[in-house]
Amino acid sequence: KRLVVLVSGSGTNLQALLDAIDETGVDAYGAEIVAVGADRGGIEGLARAERAGLPTFVCRVKDHDSREAWDAALTEAVAAYKPDLVVSAGFMKIVGKEFLARFGGRFVNTHPALLPSFPGAHGVRDALAYGAKVTGCTVHFVDDGVDTGPIIAQGVVEVRDEDDESALHERIKEVERRLLVEVVGRLARNGYRIEGRKVVIQ
Ligand code: GRF
Repeated sequence: KRLVVLVSGSGTNLQALLDAIDETGVDAYGAEIVAVGADRGGIEGLARAERAGLPTFVCRVKDHDSREAWDAALTEAVAAYKPDLVVSAGFMKIVGKEFLARFGGRFVNTHPALLPSFPGAHGVRDALAYGAKVTGCTVHFVDDGVDTGPIIAQGVVEVRDEDDESALHERIKEVERRLLVEVVGRLARNGYRIEGRKVVIQ
């Protein structure tokens, strides 16, 4: 299976996928990353892709006349690589109708909180501020809401009294990277069905 991974930052989730595929082998893992895209240039996530010898693309909102035009451009940029599965690994933009029309049902996101708690761009900070005792990460299919699509898997992480946002986020990311690698591999190898809010992996 062909994966396109979308990033916006350090790309450690991308790196976890790259390392897993490298160690396991494409056939055994069931997928290979064919390209990495970002909504901004000069980020470590793109540098990781380049070091791995992968094609990369940048699709910035400000380069387009409208959000819809950006969404169309992102859709085309991803479609050019003919992905079976698109993975948002810390991609910090909300995709639009055209992208979902094209990739809905095969677009996976990872979120650093236990959805439906703490959706949005500050899930770690919000859980901490709320005083949650456990939080974690969620891998889900993307639908037309923000972090509202059908949940595939979740991992739990304890919140410690001494945690600040970055310490907690780092601990979440340790679980998240393993969860994403495991889920993407299973989706690619086994195939899956989405039945309402339920995801059935064969
Ligand atoms: C991940 O925790 C992701 O869930 C969140 O931002 C982080 C991205 O980390 N949206 P990285 O870029 O994969 O290191």
